[in-house]
Amino acid sequence: MSLGEIAFEGIEKRYGPMVAVRSLTASVAQGEFLTILGPSGSGKTTILSMVAGLTAPTAGRIRIGGRNVTHLPPQERRIGLVFQSYALFPHLTVEKNVAFPLAVRGTPRGEIARRVEAALARVRLGGFGARKPAQLSGGQQQRVALARALVFEPDILLLDEPLGALDRKLREEVQVELKSLQRDLGITTLLVTHDQEEALSLSDRLLVLDQGAVQQVGAPHMVYRRPANRFVADFLGLANMFEGRLEAGGLRLPGGALLPCRADGRAEGSPATLVVRPEHIRLGSSGLSARFRQAVYLGHLQRWHLETAEGARLVATPPPGATAPAPGTPLPLGWAAEDGWLLPDGTDAARPALAGTPSLQPA
Ligand SMILES: Nc1ncnc2c1ncn2[C@@H]1O[C@H](COP(=O)(O)OP(=O)(O)O)[C@@H](O)[C@H]1O
Ligand SMILES: [Mg+2]
Repeated sequence: MSLGEIAFEGIEKRYGPMVAVRSLTASVAQGEFLTILGPSGSGKTTILSMVAGLTAPTAGRIRIGGRNVTHLPPQERRIGLVFQSYALFPHLTVEKNVAFPLAVRGTPRGEIARRVEAALARVRLGGFGARKPAQLSGGQQQRVALARALVFEPDILLLDEPLGALDRKLREEVQVELKSLQRDLGITTLLVTHDQEEALSLSDRLLVLDQGAVQQVGAPHMVYRRPANRFVADFLGLANMFEGRLEAGGLRLPGGALLPCRADGRAEGSPATLVVRPEHIRLGSSGLSARFRQAVYLGHLQRWHLETAEGARLVATPPPGATAPAPGTPLPLGWAAEDGWLLPDGTDAARPALAGTPSLQPA
């Protein structure tokens, strides 16, 4: 059993009548980078706090390295934290900030100096030890926080929206650095974010959370390509969704159109929801006819917003360099059958609040 393995066994957290986390059973492998992705208030921070020992679960057990740590105090867990709320001490130098976890553990001075230097070098901040946090950029401050979290060589690294305050370009830089550092150290890492791009780019696996309940766990491309339900499809990227009935040739919409998909052995006539990503829509091929509404130019790509005769709204990614037609221009469209994903049976019934035909929400 490796020291960095985490197992959640039926974890529940209530605050009075409010259930913040419900029946969480999952495991994180040694060295794995798992991202907990979900909207604000979905229970992400609560899960990390329970791993860190800052919050006790109402029910269930947490094991780390096979050992039941559910009621172990934080200082007895070998965990490094970079939390939004755990900012650097502004009055201490960078060196003293990084030394802090070692000092509270009673580490001898000589060893503190040696380890602090190594930790700062790791995050490429050698030579910045004498500065105060205010004399560093936001990205550098986050790297100091990372050095502080890693300086005592924890078994697990917990990151709660650590890059949220950085601007986009800097965020990507720190992401790249964080990922390579994590890989070099082979440290089990739990990252919390509501940023889907960050989740998709950094993680070995994603755990998608909504209202305290796990919606799906899987590799980023699986969760993106094979979402388990409407919530996941909508939360991760843009999703065109259609409700209809299965036929031999595809999904029949109430308006009569037959959309390409594979029935995957499901009974003809059964109701189903089809998910098609914008980048899979091929304009000009037939299946569905829609009218052009508007183009959104994003620099590296465009998105075209379309509407079917029944009033369903769609988003498609046109080929690079395509010129947008006039609003109202009819555009036949289709996709390869294998690019249509049928949501697993019964996933919508469980989520009446999110039902609606078809829905499209930019995440
Ligand atoms: N100490 C607390 N007391 C009462 N409710 C809390 C407390 N901490 C969190 N909550 C509630 O638990 C839910 C999950 O919170 P949190 O884990 O912080 O969500 P996230 O990090 O995903 O935004 C929210 O509804 C929040 O209001
Ligand atoms: Mg949070």
